[in-house]
Amino acid sequence: MNAPALAGRVSTLHCRRVTDSPVSTNIRWHHGSVDRDARRAARGHGPGVLWLTGLSGSGKSTLARAVEARLHERGVFVYVLDGDNLRHGLCSDLGFAPEDRKENIRRVGEVARLFSDAGAIVLTAFISPYRDDRARARTLVGDDFVEVHVNADVSVCEERDPKGLYEKARAGEIANFTGISAPYEAPESPELVVNTGALSIDESAAAVIAHLEQRGVLPS
Ligand code: ADX
Repeated sequence: MNAPALAGRVSTLHCRRVTDSPVSTNIRWHHGSVDRDARRAARGHGPGVLWLTGLSGSGKSTLARAVEARLHERGVFVYVLDGDNLRHGLCSDLGFAPEDRKENIRRVGEVARLFSDAGAIVLTAFISPYRDDRARARTLVGDDFVEVHVNADVSVCEERDPKGLYEKARAGEIANFTGISAPYEAPESPELVVNTGALSIDESAAAVIAHLEQRGVLPS
């Protein structure tokens, strides 16, 4: 099947409509024999992509790890995709210009979709500052996408400055730094807002897990 004929086809992956024509030709989709319901029955929970977005230092990675530990304890198939970590490998060729961030988020969206297709609950911890990039990830993932705004004021993040990056950005040593010299477009209607400036890590993790129970992704 050639590339134009592939465009617009609905794939076997949950809710995924192929909108970008692949460059490759002579490729064909292979249908699996293990479907979504079978994976859910085997695991005892549904899949999900918890898309954590927020400023550097807002607590995305900390929250993702806290939720991961709690869900793992419950026997859930859970995994974290973390911005700093993926930039050491899969995304090591990318910087922080808008086009690079767009490609970063595109790759993360694709990987997250594969994890959710495999039946996992995946937490992504990326600044993902642009609404359009997050909207593309949402479209790709479909109904399993849960946008979580990890909301802490830039002044709070700058005060925390766990990696000393705000200080460097203020000193002009880091270009395109989100919140200082590059924009952060806050979500307009996220499924969940977690204010890490006001909540403890335990409370924040509990809010995320309660949301998954409410959605029926996790049994309550
Ligand atoms: S994103 O914008 O493309 O989503 P990502 O989450 O992968 O960013 O990476 C952000 C991490 O890279 C930050 O937590 C910080 O540690 C580091 N970093 C280095 N340079 C920058 C920069 N210019 N802007 C934001 N974060 C940066």
